[in-house]
Amino acid sequence: MNEARPASLSSFWMPFTNNRDFKAHPRLLVSAKGMYYKDVDGNDVLDGTAGLWCVPCGHAQPRIVAAVGEMVGQLDFAPTFQMGHPAAFDLAEQLMDYTGHKFGHVFYTNSGSEAVDTALKMALAFHRARGEGGRTRLIGRERGYHGVGFGGLSVGGIGPNRKAFGPLLPGVDHLPHTHDLARNAFSRGEPASGATLADELERLVALHDPSTIAAVIVEPVAGSTGVLVPPRGYLKRLREICTKHGILLIFDEVITGFGRLGTPFAADYFDVEPDLMTTAKGITNGTVPMGAVFSKRFIHDALMDAPPGIELAHGYTYSGHPLACAASLATLAVFREQGILEHARALQPYWEDAVHALRGLPHVIDIRTVGLVAGIELEPLPGKPGARAMAAFKQAFADGILIRVTGDIIALSPPLVLEKTHIDELFGKLADVLRRLD
Ligand SMILES: Cc1ncc(COP(=O)(O)O)c(C=O)c1O
Repeated sequence: MNEARPASLSSFWMPFTNNRDFKAHPRLLVSAKGMYYKDVDGNDVLDGTAGLWCVPCGHAQPRIVAAVGEMVGQLDFAPTFQMGHPAAFDLAEQLMDYTGHKFGHVFYTNSGSEAVDTALKMALAFHRARGEGGRTRLIGRERGYHGVGFGGLSVGGIGPNRKAFGPLLPGVDHLPHTHDLARNAFSRGEPASGATLADELERLVALHDPSTIAAVIVEPVAGSTGVLVPPRGYLKRLREICTKHGILLIFDEVITGFGRLGTPFAADYFDVEPDLMTTAKGITNGTVPMGAVFSKRFIHDALMDAPPGIELAHGYTYSGHPLACAASLATLAVFREQGILEHARALQPYWEDAVHALRGLPHVIDIRTVGLVAGIELEPLPGKPGARAMAAFKQAFADGILIRVTGDIIALSPPLVLEKTHIDELFGKLADVLRRLD
């Protein structure tokens, strides 16, 4: 009996998990270093997903581990309501540097979901502060994922995530998604077709009137729905329409922030500037939970014009937790000193070729890539949506690679520190899995 094995799996109600299936056939990770997890049986598992898109600098990065260890002994917790601690301020300044000063302020949360709800609330408060309190409508997109708070769920567009929890927020509408297999299958980078789908925003503006719309929120690259890369020109068009009608544009960069596309944020990659940007995950290399909303100066400043008092009645007990700040400061140092972005950019062509080499394998109906991200879409088993990809996930884990599946799509997003040998191992094993799938 392995000592690391828990005595019982029964009481932990697991998130986004088929609990009954998992508990009958558990997969337990007990340690992690660099590009690999180790499972409870001592097997190495190559991390093809950076956990959950969380670990750009690789697991147990020594500098980050040390920084968190030092901070916990020095300042285990400090409130940030009417109080502060130096690391929270230092981090905010360094994050502004990291954005190239395209943003003026950052608000800390503990997760992507909280970052999304915070950004939506900021948008509403901003319009109200300027005397446009009628702008209450929020627009998301079909197939969008913005976490699981009621705000993020309401603007999100993944049906199965929403259906048990209504009624959701009123006054929300959705743009159509951009997935178009007929026109764009096997795209590298931005697909050629679909920029005009952004014009659907004009339709919603005409329908609802711009004076009722506060904000549009989209993921620059939709991740959880299975890697949907925006069509060429689409995001620029959304930006133009938002600007024209005084609507705030929010990019949800929870998975694309912190280097996923080889640039600081996807906004830089696509050269489109949102007004608010939500982040989490890679901001601390996944080591300590943290999210953050980046705000343009004009949004922050409009709220600072309020009468003396608390300007935004919002925040979390753990906003700017010292351990998260220490982890994030160390993560930014690793990005700078180890050239994480440069390394990710240099590997992109090799990554892209390796993924697209899977074309022609059984069941593969699409492959799409951008940065160090890949989506591999499988033909569903008749009458059993998601079952084929789930079987691939289980077999892959047994073969020593961690992949992520959503519906019948395999989504890959490795730590950015991977090397060509890891890419060879990942796709060598994945090809084998695909060949053996029913
Ligand atoms: C785009 C996006 N937004 C929000 C979230 C929610 O983040 P969290 O799970 O940290 O609440 C996620 C999580 O994957 C995400 O991908």
